[in-house]
Amino acid sequence: MVPTTKPRLLRALDGEVIDRPPVWFMRQAGRYLPEYRELRAAHSFLEMCHDPKLATEVTLQPLRRFPLDGAIVFSDILLPLESMGADLAYIKGQGPVISNPVRTADDVAALRPFVPERDLPAPMETLRLCVDAADVPVLGFAGAPFTMACYLIEGSGSKTWTETKRLLFTQPDTFQVLLDKLADAVGDHLQAQIDAGAAAVQLFDTWAGALSASDFRRWALPAAQRALARVSGAPRLYFTRDSGPFLPWLAESGADAIALDWRVDMARARAVLGDLPVQGNLDPSVVHAPTDEIRRQVHDIIRAAGPSGHVFNLGHGLAPDTPIAGVAAVVDAVRDWTWD
Ligand code: CP3
Repeated sequence: MVPTTKPRLLRALDGEVIDRPPVWFMRQAGRYLPEYRELRAAHSFLEMCHDPKLATEVTLQPLRRFPLDGAIVFSDILLPLESMGADLAYIKGQGPVISNPVRTADDVAALRPFVPERDLPAPMETLRLCVDAADVPVLGFAGAPFTMACYLIEGSGSKTWTETKRLLFTQPDTFQVLLDKLADAVGDHLQAQIDAGAAAVQLFDTWAGALSASDFRRWALPAAQRALARVSGAPRLYFTRDSGPFLPWLAESGADAIALDWRVDMARARAVLGDLPVQGNLDPSVVHAPTDEIRRQVHDIIRAAGPSGHVFNLGHGLAPDTPIAGVAAVVDAVRDWTWD
């Protein structure tokens, strides 16, 4: 649907003063919703991602329950890696697994270029269906180059990302070639999603916080910058986790807005980032708190962020054990706020 007035989400991302911030959630679709679990019982996660009708249905599910100001298309950051040559599976209790991890210069050279419309036709179609069906802006997304490299090198999730760091420290030239390839791939992916109708896009650098400050500035940040520099036509958000110490440098990503995790003090983020719009940053586990405490924490964040350039969100995604009433209480608290 084409909105007649500028949506609240885009006003906030443009830095406008608004009566209350827009609200959406990372992982707002997914396992905490019984209607998602019902579909998921009959289909694998990858099957759902590659079926535009199912993926559209899942994207729209949270919008039917909560009056949200945005929808994020249902897919996964790792899908482009399959097209590039990774043998990707999602294993219950373990998460994503890549059985042919990238560990050498030859492995990096063998990665195929990623062409979004050719390689991921179904997720691109999902995005178009969602844009038609949703009456709020639809966000596209991609994984940031460093975070994508983490999964590709490690072959799975990790607490320490030792293989990734081993490659980075022992074969820096190879690591740089890999980051460059990934930056071009995810930049093109974001652009393709904007061309297909995404109103905004978010680059997820979930594991950038595993790096030291100097390695963040040497590797993850310029790679994110390279990816974002390929993208225009809609606001571009950059999300990092555990990166409060990197706050002074996040603007160098070139993003139009910075998505903050919950460890960052909102007032400090504003002081450091100036006029750059921000998104976040409620601790996702606050959904388990009593309603009064939820309201207090939501309103503290809004007050600290100020009346312009703030998109309300969590500091990371909703977890599978999230109570629906807690999500509703967060949305109510945001919608009850008014600046005047
Ligand atoms: O936010 C949304 O609702 C949109 C869809 C979305 C998913 N993953 C769906 C998903 C988005 C934007 C992502 C991003 C993503 N995927 C990130 C970056 C953000 C973050 O959460 O840190 C990362 C690191 C991944 C990789 C990934 N995908 C992991 C580690 C896992 C397994 C862990 C888990 O939460 O189960 C996935 C699977 C995945 N991606 C699920 C969903 C709904 C669960 C699939 C299922 O079993 O039903």
